Amino acid sequence: MSIFPKDFLWGGATAANQCEGAYNVDGKGLSVQDVLPKGIFGPITDGPTEDNLKLVGNDFYHRYEEDIKLMAEMGFKVFRMSIAWTRIFPTGEEEVPNEAGLAFYDRVFDTCRAHNIEPLVTLSHYESPLYLSKKYDGWMNRKLIDLFAKYAETVFKRYKDKVKYWVTFNEINVTSHIPLLGGGVFTPKDQLTKQDMYQAAHHQLVASGLATKIAKTINPEFQVGCMVASAPRYPMTCHPDDVTYAMEEQQELTLFVHVHAKGEYPYYTKRLFDRDNIKLDITEEDKHNLKHTVDFISFSYYNSKTVAKDPSKYELAQGNLYRGLRNPYLTYSEWNYPIDPQGLRYILNFYYERYELPMFVSENGMGAIDEPIEENGKLTINDDYRIDFHKGHLKEVGHAIEDGVNVIGYTSWGCIDLVSAASAQMEKRYGFVYVDRDKDGNGTLERFPKKSFYWYKSVIESNGDDL
Ligand code: BG6
Repeated sequence: MSIFPKDFLWGGATAANQCEGAYNVDGKGLSVQDVLPKGIFGPITDGPTEDNLKLVGNDFYHRYEEDIKLMAEMGFKVFRMSIAWTRIFPTGEEEVPNEAGLAFYDRVFDTCRAHNIEPLVTLSHYESPLYLSKKYDGWMNRKLIDLFAKYAETVFKRYKDKVKYWVTFNEINVTSHIPLLGGGVFTPKDQLTKQDMYQAAHHQLVASGLATKIAKTINPEFQVGCMVASAPRYPMTCHPDDVTYAMEEQQELTLFVHVHAKGEYPYYTKRLFDRDNIKLDITEEDKHNLKHTVDFISFSYYNSKTVAKDPSKYELAQGNLYRGLRNPYLTYSEWNYPIDPQGLRYILNFYYERYELPMFVSENGMGAIDEPIEENGKLTINDDYRIDFHKGHLKEVGHAIEDGVNVIGYTSWGCIDLVSAASAQMEKRYGFVYVDRDKDGNGTLERFPKKSFYWYKSVIESNGDDL
């Protein structure tokens, strides 16, 4: 018998700005992603430029029916996606929402429902309206709390019978160190203090609580979760200095889960904030809004991060958004990210033993270069490396379930190839489905299944027994 619960939510995940394209279609306004052609560490352009692959994405806007059908063929129970805020409120400040944008997501959710796929919808996935970013410096300004609440209320009401699972902010903890990506903060990072970045993140935490409150008044059956980028911190050595350093870095991350789960900042916040001279502006109303806690904890897991008090002695590795030290016990991907399946079991237990809320792995995957080959007259990808990656990680999810963790779902990242978040490139693929688009944006955008497509299908069919 399978160790995965019978109603386990198997599926995949995407984000509007990385797949939809159609950046100026049907009244959509610009988001920060539309002016970042080289990704989040590149320059901001004055307006959309042709070299920005996200403007077309993988053309999900026009191909959602085909894509959802492919997901259904794999047996998906859930599809995590995001709503582009700028399709609903093009600048973020309109009085009335954009009907064409709302109608698009009606069509997407109806298609999911027709295939018995449960949508899991992120309200904000690195897609702050550019207008708000420029006018208010994004989430630096608490004005965004109300604007976001209005947007959230609009979509909760519209889709109250079509969507049950919601996530407020993608990787909300990222705002405290990559403020443009996480919080649409226009001021360059080198001109910001830690206080600024944490204040922006605080506004999002408040908005997350407020949105959760609004959600429950609209449909008490809604399940609302948080989403935190989770690279568990490992000490480089057993020297107490390294162990303590890893603990402190871990707390900076766990803080965001804690606020969502417990409705207030954890005990270690004072030390953390004193150390960095952070004095947040927290109003009584903020405290009240934070009290609206989540129903489940979701997180992305790509890799662990190894740290040391004195990192200068060690070699550096890469990592998804986090750059850690090279861990000699792990292997590394083409992008030099550590591959550490056990870290997933570790972090599932880590959160669950603290908060005992249902856990959802809402992103996991490995970026790789795929080479199409022809087999029996059809194009495919022999992506055994991707199968090995997911197999290893899903086995560890299974172990966490055996440990007693209540894991309710797993959505692999970028289930259909899309444009990468950090570098806006197409070569770094995560999907079970290949999309014909090259690094310069050329290609037919046609889709075909990779070998991993059939592997994942059989895993879902057997509810994890075929791992
Ligand atoms: C996560 C993001 O941090 O990492 C996704 O939520 C992103 O949006 C994913 O795509 C992988 O990162 P990248 O840069 O390889 O696309």
